[in-house]
Amino acid sequence: MDQTYQIAEAQAVPACSVVILGASGDLARRKLIPALYNLRACGEGVGAHDFAVLGFARRQMAVDRFRDEMREAVARYSRLELNDSCWNDFVARLDYLSGLDQPSGFERLRMRLEQAEANYGLPPNRIYYLSIPPEAIDETIAGLDQAGLIAKPGAPHFSRVVVEKPIGHDLESARQTNRTILGHFAESQIFRIDHYLGKETVQNLLVLRFANTIFERMWGARNVDHVQITVAESEGVGSRALYYDPAGALRDMVQNHMLQLLALIAMEPPVSLEAEAIREAKLNLLRALRPVPRGKSAALVVRGRYSAGTSDGQQVPGYLEEQGIPKNSRTETFVALKAFIDNWRWAGVPFYLRTGKRMGARESLIHIQFKEVPRILFNRTGALPVNALTLRIQPDEGFSFGVLAKQPGLGVTIRPVRMNLRYQSEFRGPVPDAYERLLLDVMAGDHTLFVSVSFVEQSWAFVQSILEHWASDYSIPLNDYPAGTMGPSAADQLIQTDGRLWLNL
Ligand code: BG6
Repeated sequence: MDQTYQIAEAQAVPACSVVILGASGDLARRKLIPALYNLRACGEGVGAHDFAVLGFARRQMAVDRFRDEMREAVARYSRLELNDSCWNDFVARLDYLSGLDQPSGFERLRMRLEQAEANYGLPPNRIYYLSIPPEAIDETIAGLDQAGLIAKPGAPHFSRVVVEKPIGHDLESARQTNRTILGHFAESQIFRIDHYLGKETVQNLLVLRFANTIFERMWGARNVDHVQITVAESEGVGSRALYYDPAGALRDMVQNHMLQLLALIAMEPPVSLEAEAIREAKLNLLRALRPVPRGKSAALVVRGRYSAGTSDGQQVPGYLEEQGIPKNSRTETFVALKAFIDNWRWAGVPFYLRTGKRMGARESLIHIQFKEVPRILFNRTGALPVNALTLRIQPDEGFSFGVLAKQPGLGVTIRPVRMNLRYQSEFRGPVPDAYERLLLDVMAGDHTLFVSVSFVEQSWAFVQSILEHWASDYSIPLNDYPAGTMGPSAADQLIQTDGRLWLNL
C-alpha cells in the first residue's frame, strides 16, 4: 500500500528575483514573505534554489526596519518555525525600496534590481507580484513598462506578473483591468492567483475524480441527488474594512474561490493535464452554469450579515460595529445560493453554495449526496439514509464516504457508517502552503493552477446579474445571523424547501 506513482515531478525552477509591489501591506506579511521563507528553508525547502526578494512600496522605511517587520511576520505566520540560521540565509537576499507612488520610483527599482542581480549572480528573470489595490494596477504596470522592466515574451529572460484578486469589482471593471494588463504583458506572462487552487485538497479533487474509477462513473444526474459547497469562516472582517465593505461575500468569495471549486468538482474530464486543457474544461463548465434570472434571485440567492454573537467562546461585535464599517453599510457577509448546470451530465441537479464570515465553524467542504436506493428490499419505507461523499478541504483535510452497514446482531438493523480518510494520519511529510506552491509555479512558468482571463470574465458574468438585482431592489432582505451560527434561517429554508439539509460537520 505504500507504493507511490509519480505522474509529474516538481518542476525545475530557474533562478530569479521576486519583486513584491505593495510589500508593506497585509498580504506580503501574512502570506507572501512567509511562503518565500518556507520555499527557501535553509536550502532544503520544497523549492530550494536561488532567488532574491525585493519589497517595493510607497512607505518610506529603512531596509532594516522592513527586515525586522518581516521577521516578526515569519515568526507569526510561517508554516515552518523561524530558525535563526534559515532567517539569516533568507534575509541576506531580502531588500526594500520605497517610491511605488513616485514617477522616478520605477527607475530606481530597475537600478536596484540590476545591482542585486549583479551582487548575487542572478539572471534578470523577474516576477512582479502586484499586491496593490486594483485602482493602482494601471499606473503601476505603466511604470514598470516605462522603466524598461518588462521583457517581451520569448526574450532570453522572463518577466512575469502575478495579479491578486479582486480583479475588478464587476464585469466591466474586470474587463478593463484585464485589458490594462494585456496592454503591457502577454497572456503567457500573466499569472492570476486564486489561492484556493494551491491548496493540496483542492488539487486532490482532480486525482480523486480522474485517477479512480468508482467516482467518475457515479458523477452526474443519474446518481447524484445534489451537491453542496460550503466555505465557512469563523473570522470576522478584522482589519480589512476598507477592502471588504465595498466588496462583500459575493465578490470576495463566490466570484472566485467558490466558482473555482464548483468548476473543479463538476467539469468534464480535461483531455490532458496541460494547463490549457484544464482551463478549457473549467471554462466550459462555467459556460453551462445557468445565469440567475433577474426576477428570480430572491428564490435562488440568500444574503446575510452577522450581528453580535459568540465566536470561539468570545463575545464578538456585529458587522456594523466592526472598526471602519460605515453605519449605513448594506454589505453582505454571507451568501447562499442554488445553482444549476445546464449540460447532459448535471441537468436538474441542484448545487447549493454557501459562504460567510463569523460562522459557527471554520469549515470548507464539498458534499456530494447520492440518490436513494429503490424502494424495495431494505428501503421499502424510503427511510434509509443515502450514500454521500464528503470532501473536507480545510481544516482536518480528508474525505469520508457515508455507507450503510448491518449492525452485528440477530436481527437486521442497518446503521450508517463513515469510511474516513484523514490526510494527517495517512500522509507524512510537509504539506506546502497554497502560496508556496503557487509562487513556485510562477517561477517555473506553469499556468495550470492560475485563472484564465476568460474564467475571470465568465465568473463575473454569473455574479453580475445577482449584484444588479440587489442594487436595483431594496426590498431584497439582508438577513441577520448571530456571529457563531451557520448563517441566517433563510439559508436553511433555501435548501429545506427542496427537502434537503445543509451538512454541518
Ligand atoms: C480571501 C478572502 O481570498 O480568502 C478572505 O479575501 C478570506 O476574505 C480568505 O478570508 C479565505 O482563505 P482561506 O485560505 O483562509 O480559506
